[in-house]
Amino acid sequence: MADRKSERQVGIIGSGLIGHSFAMLYAAAGYRVRMYDIKPEQLRHALSIIDDQLEHLSQNELLRGKLTIKEQRALITGTNDFAECVKDAFFIQECVNESLELKREVHAKIDPICRKDAIISSSTSALVPSLISENLTNKNRFIVCHPTNPPFYAPLVEVIPAPWTDPEVVITTKELMAEIGQVPVIVKKEIDGFVFNRIQYSIIGECWRLYEEGVMSAEDIDKVMSEGLGRRYAFMGPLEITYLNADGLLIFGDLYRETLYRVQCSFGPPKKMEGPTLEKMHNEIAARIPLDKLYERRKWRDIRLASLQKLINELDESHPK
Ligand code: NAI
Repeated sequence: MADRKSERQVGIIGSGLIGHSFAMLYAAAGYRVRMYDIKPEQLRHALSIIDDQLEHLSQNELLRGKLTIKEQRALITGTNDFAECVKDAFFIQECVNESLELKREVHAKIDPICRKDAIISSSTSALVPSLISENLTNKNRFIVCHPTNPPFYAPLVEVIPAPWTDPEVVITTKELMAEIGQVPVIVKKEIDGFVFNRIQYSIIGECWRLYEEGVMSAEDIDKVMSEGLGRRYAFMGPLEITYLNADGLLIFGDLYRETLYRVQCSFGPPKKMEGPTLEKMHNEIAARIPLDKLYERRKWRDIRLASLQKLINELDESHPK
């Protein structure tokens, strides 16, 4: 099924959790993908995980896009040659470990050999784009695309330009993300942790405090989200939820602003996740999900995520937003 799109190459650097998931997304949308990893054995492992996941998705009728497994798989190749991954790519998705030094080193290698019209993107979770790109010649074409893990199964991507990123790069990146089935949101100015992780970390921080103070077990804290708050969050944000919980935000403010403020004042300063409490929490969760069963548990999660997305797509068609 060769079309012009399949001749356009995306370069993925780093084939870990995020890299191989992004590779599947681009291939499902019909792009040719070249994936590189500094560790050849990791690259081989990533390609075998892709085989396994495509098979699993197909068995559950959850394959993305219009291409068959064979066609999608044929679009993804691994390479042990960094330049081969980068030089012909119109879009580069760097997915190496979260270290400023490493990211700077990798981008300094991409900079002189990439196409002059390429967009160079980093998957960083929290490093602001200006820090990674300040010394690059092509820094006007650098942008962060921070995905939700795993990108193949959860569509939100934060798109974060540096102050010097060309506006056209922001538009093209946003369009590309939407085209491969993701939902891009723009972070308009650089902020530590971006928006996704600022919200996520505030939740984790409060869960930690509640556990440390003996208010609830780890399992029950997780249920508060999975069986309660999370049910709504799967298709509606906290601001709209608040709007619906009273008759609009103005009435919500009148009814709950004092309670909201009083409870927030009791949160206290941030605490570090460390020490015996961390061990206790870890052991409590590991009793349910042993570390050697993580791959199975992730597969269980991913099929649920893909099924939920399918349901939401069907509902969007029958009951438009
Ligand atoms: P990972 O540890 O699963 O994968 C990182 C990969 O990069 C490894 O395969 C490693 O061998 C490779 N690598 C290291 N140095 C390299 C180099 N010089 N050249 C090529 N490959 C190299 O990490 P993960 O989770 O995939 O994270 C990648 C990036 O995505 C990080 O910046 C992380 O913060 C971000 N991210 C991670 C999320 C998560 O929940 N795991 C969510 C969103 C973003």
